[in-house]
Amino acid sequence: MKPIYGLIGNPVAHSMSPDIHNAALKDLSLDGYYHAFRVENDDLEDAVKGMRALGIQGFNVTVPHKVAIMKYLDRIDESARVLGAVNTVRREKEELVGYNTDGEGFLKSLKPSLDKPVSELSILIIGAGGAARAIFTTLASERPKRLDVANRTPEKAEAFIQLYSGQTKAVSLAEAEEHLEAYDVLIQTTSVGMHPHVDDVPLSLARAKETCLVCDIIYNPLKTALLKEAEAKGLHTLNGVGMFIGQAALSFGLWTGHEPDMEKMKSIVLRKLGGKEC
Ligand code: ATR
Repeated sequence: MKPIYGLIGNPVAHSMSPDIHNAALKDLSLDGYYHAFRVENDDLEDAVKGMRALGIQGFNVTVPHKVAIMKYLDRIDESARVLGAVNTVRREKEELVGYNTDGEGFLKSLKPSLDKPVSELSILIIGAGGAARAIFTTLASERPKRLDVANRTPEKAEAFIQLYSGQTKAVSLAEAEEHLEAYDVLIQTTSVGMHPHVDDVPLSLARAKETCLVCDIIYNPLKTALLKEAEAKGLHTLNGVGMFIGQAALSFGLWTGHEPDMEKMKSIVLRKLGGKEC
C-alpha cells in the first residue's frame, strides 16, 4: 500500500509542505503521497483517530494543534516532551509517536551562517511563543555564552528560561533594544512582520553591533522589515526559509529514513514565494 503522509492544521491552504515533501518523495523515487488536511479544533481527536484507522504513516502538525495533539498520541519523544509541543507524528507499529523537529531544523539552518561555535556566542531570542521555546531549548543544549529572551510579555519567557543552566535572562523588548550591542546573534520569532503587518518590527536595530547576525524565522515575506533594516545597516541576515526546510527534512527523515535534497526543497519554496533568498 502506498504510504500516506500529511499535515494537519488550520489554515493549511497556503502551506508549502505538500510541495516540498511530494517533490522529495519523487526525487528519491519513494512511493508515497503527502496531503494537507484542514482540521478544526473540535475535530482534532477524530482526525487523529481517522489517521490511525486509515494507516497514515506520518504527519506534520501545525498551528493551532501542536500542543493539543499531545494527549491523543501514544507516546511523546524527548524532542517534543521538552518543548511541550509536537510538529511531527510517526506511526511506529500500532503506536502514534510525537516528535518535534522545529528547534533542530532551525539549528541546521543557522550553523552554516556562523563563524564560531554556538558555545562562543551571546544570543538573543525575540519572542516567547512555541517557536521561541523550541529554538531556546535546542540552542541551550549547545551551551551558548549567553541566551536571553526578549518578549512583549517578559513573564512568558520566565516560564522557560530556567531550562538553561547557563547565563540567561528574560527582558522586555525595550531593555533588549537598549543593550543590543551585547549580542552576536538575534533570532526574531514573533509574528511581527508577517502579513498584513509587513512594515512592523519588534524592536529597532540601532544599537546592534556591526558583526551581528540577524535571523527572522518568518519566510513569507522572505525579507521582513527587520531583515531590511539589518541589511540597510550592513548586518548579516538569515530568513526563515532554512528553518522551514530544515524541520521538513528532519520530519521526512523520521518517516522515510532518507535525507531529502534540501537545496531542491529550498528552490521550490523560493519559486513559490517569487523571490531570491536574502
Ligand atoms: P508561535 O507558536 O508561532 O511562536 P505564539 O505562541 O502565538 O506563536 O507566540 C507569538 C509571539 O509573538 C509571542 O512572543 C508574542 O508576544 P506575547 O507573548 O507578549 O504575546 C509575540 N507577538 C505577537 N504579536 C506581537 C506584537 N504586536 N508585538 C510584539 N510581540 C508580539
